[in-house]
Amino acid sequence: MAKDIVISAGDLSKIYRRGAEEVRAVDGVSFEAAAGEMVAIIGPSGSGKTTLLNLIGCLDNPSSGSLSVGGRAIFGGQKALSERELTLIRREMFGYVFQKFYLIPTLTVEENIMLPGAFYRAPGAKDAHEVMKLLGIAQRRGHLPGELSGGEMQRVAIARALINGPKVLLADEPTGSLDSKRTEEIKGILRGLARQGITVVMVTHNLDLARSADRLLEIRDGKVHGA
Ligand SMILES: Nc1ncnc2c1ncn2[C@@H]1O[C@H](COP(=O)(O)OP(=O)(O)OP(=O)(O)O)[C@@H](O)[C@H]1O
Ligand SMILES: [Mg+2]
Repeated sequence: MAKDIVISAGDLSKIYRRGAEEVRAVDGVSFEAAAGEMVAIIGPSGSGKTTLLNLIGCLDNPSSGSLSVGGRAIFGGQKALSERELTLIRREMFGYVFQKFYLIPTLTVEENIMLPGAFYRAPGAKDAHEVMKLLGIAQRRGHLPGELSGGEMQRVAIARALINGPKVLLADEPTGSLDSKRTEEIKGILRGLARQGITVVMVTHNLDLARSADRLLEIRDGKVHGA
């Protein structure tokens, strides 16, 4: 039986130009990820991991190459999608955990988590309390981000990414500032999401977390080395 391919990237490239200087941030990356699959992207700083994640998440346009999400051609297809169509795909398909969290400092933990749902309530949307419990932050619901530890902020960012029940969770360093016990917990949570059929694509420097993925993409100078 054919696997249910959710992400399909073909020869994706992103080139930044600064004057005469050219940075090939992502350089001809091809890969597929199926429903319920967990993919880890590893590589040194500046190798293009965040850029690749942004391309997969339709937050950035590739310089060349193709991308399909949920069987739909996003880039490199016959017809370019409108900004409105891209917005729909972003909010229906993806949950994003950014490297810098981007929590709103004047909103509480609970309000931050509920924020995406204020703009759009997906059919598979989750209850805020449910995701706070899942991430072990329910007791911090009334706190402001400035009153949280780095690890707690990270878990709030993951909870917020899950509130609209995404098909694909994209996470840039989901355990970046966590101790090994918390990393182990996040690993279990991500695995659980994958078991529910969510495709998880994460960037990590944590080798233990990377090895727990179904697939490892090792990226160096924008190119994939191991698949
Ligand atoms: N907006 C931009 N304009 C120009 N160059 C950029 C831009 N964004 C990223 N780059 C360059 O592209 C390359 C890849 O950057 P990227 O942020 O994807 O790396 P990374 O692998 O995520 O690194 P880190 O592990 O430090 O987060 C780097 O050389 C970076 O300087
Ligand atoms: Mg990065």
